[in-house]
Amino acid sequence: MAPPATQNESGGGDLARYEVIVGVSGGIAAYKVCAVVSSLVQRGAGVTVAMTEAATRFVGPLTFQALTGRQVFTSLWTAQAYFDPQHIRLTESADLFLVAPATANILGKVAAGLADDLVSTLVMSAACPVVFAPTMNTRMWENPIVQANVTRLREAGYSFIEPGSGWLACRTVGTGRMAEPETILATVCEHLRGRGAKAEGRTRKAEGRTRKAEGRRQKAEAEGGGL
Ligand SMILES: Cc1cc2nc3c(=O)[nH]c(=O)nc-3n(C[C@H](O)[C@H](O)[C@H](O)COP(=O)(O)O)c2cc1C
Repeated sequence: MAPPATQNESGGGDLARYEVIVGVSGGIAAYKVCAVVSSLVQRGAGVTVAMTEAATRFVGPLTFQALTGRQVFTSLWTAQAYFDPQHIRLTESADLFLVAPATANILGKVAAGLADDLVSTLVMSAACPVVFAPTMNTRMWENPIVQANVTRLREAGYSFIEPGSGWLACRTVGTGRMAEPETILATVCEHLRGRGAKAEGRTRKAEGRTRKAEGRRQKAEAEGGGL
């Protein structure tokens, strides 16, 4: 029996035709990213989640699999029945890559040009805009090295959804709290609507394929062929 169509596959929602990759790294705010992913899916976006090993300690891949209706990627080294360079393919079809929560570690790795796991490799090979939603303890966020990494990433064209101030998992109040899911969702929508090119391009390609198939069908009919 075929699996039931996801909302995206059925074509509904104002974000239908958009593809978003969500890279989840290892911060407690990973649980809030479930809400972001769920909202994107409910609005019709196709969402693929990639997680760092640390992220899987906070939220199980199964949660994201259930929310997206798609396979969740956690390793560069997952055996495939066929050769599939996921780290290239996944970002090629995406309109946006959201990294949330973005740890000090993932920011540091990307700023240093390191790609030693699936999420950092996906970011390094991204063929779409990348938006980081950092979250960390206030002292980590204010660490000059982290701030220098953020500056370097901004200069390289990466976007940020600024962390806010509030209650932190380390039981203190300060800067470093990940932006709220509604803010992240609004920013993602803004980015998607500001671009739209890939989604529209995909639609045009699909329409082109449909026209070609229709042309072939009509030709076969005219020639008396068919199934
Ligand atoms: C309970 C707990 C909460 C954590 N929260 C954060 C966080 O919000 N931000 C952060 O940068 N690191 C946080 N860390 C540390 C990261 O998990 C750690 O640096 C890890 O190596 C990050 O790996 P990743 O970037 O590959 O996911 C936390 C660790 C623990 C145990």
